[in-house]
Amino acid sequence: MKKKIVFSGIQPSGKLTIGNYIGVIKQWVKMQKKYTCIFCIVDLHTITVNKINFNLNDTILDTLSLYLACGVNPKKSIIFIQSNILEHTQLSWILNSYTYYGELKRMTQFKNKLIKYNFKNINSGIFIYPVLMASDILLYKTSYVPIGNDQKQHIELCRNIANRFNNIYGNIFNIPKPCILKYGGKILSLQEPNKKMSKSDGNYNNVIYLLEKKQNILKKIKLAKTDSDKNYNIKYDIINKPGISNILNIFSSLTGNKINEIEKKFNGKMYSDLKYETSKILSFFIERIQENYYNIRNKKSFLKDIIYDGTIKARKIAKRNLNKIKKKINLIK
Ligand code: TYM
Repeated sequence: MKKKIVFSGIQPSGKLTIGNYIGVIKQWVKMQKKYTCIFCIVDLHTITVNKINFNLNDTILDTLSLYLACGVNPKKSIIFIQSNILEHTQLSWILNSYTYYGELKRMTQFKNKLIKYNFKNINSGIFIYPVLMASDILLYKTSYVPIGNDQKQHIELCRNIANRFNNIYGNIFNIPKPCILKYGGKILSLQEPNKKMSKSDGNYNNVIYLLEKKQNILKKIKLAKTDSDKNYNIKYDIINKPGISNILNIFSSLTGNKINEIEKKFNGKMYSDLKYETSKILSFFIERIQENYYNIRNKKSFLKDIIYDGTIKARKIAKRNLNKIKKKINLIK
């Protein structure tokens, strides 16, 4: 039986964070054992925001090296750069004609960007960004999309567009399912645990990067905001104790220990005990990734070969599938 397709991607918009790893890359590494996995570096999404003083060539190779350092295996999975496969943008234009203005206006990420940009000079790439994301996914007849919580709405839109298209033309698109981890799907900002940890966060202390210096890890976790519970009750409670719950999440994701086991282990102990133990676990984990990363990051021809190989494989699938779609809508005979 043909293996089901998994598709996912990350923007090469800066150094990846432990949020990207725990929420998504960790899932990728596991899924490549069972499925045909296609992992993209979504540079066309990145240019909607990062333009000036931004070396995309470098950040693409940084991102690819981190994929590999975390355990994505190019012998098992297809890895490529979005802008190398022109079919993504062509399908995106087609799908724009099957997407409503009102749907895009309702996207939370777009609304947040409007606020961030003070409602001024928002480029239309940011507005239609979810349609390009839908094209990335639908182009490969994807069954599963591992993502973090913040991308859930975009997948719902993708499913709606696919269903709308299928209702007119028959069964063209697979309807993809999001794969979101119950606990790791939203790793929170360390200082502001009411929002997600984000690689583009202006406050350096909010984020732990995969390329974080070891000495910063202890410092950042130590500074992480907790709560004013006088009993220092170490308990998973995302509403009342988001900071502690976040640290429990990180601990659990990296060790495989269940949350209630960790609660038991730290029963009667201080927040600082949990923080210290978590930073030790994080340091150990990050050290391993960094060792792999620095081993490959400067091997440019090795990295370029991986991209070349991935591009050939992805393009073959993309071309075949886009042709079928274009035939259906009479763009080719
Ligand atoms: P991006 O680059 O913002 O983030 C990449 C992936 O990491 C997840 N993520 C997190 N998960 C848990 N906790 C966090 N703190 C955290 N921060 C980020 C994101 O949810 C995301 O899954 N539009 C997408 C990229 C994209 C894509 C696609 C993804 C483009 N086309 C097709 C899947 C399929 C984005 O900007 O992700």
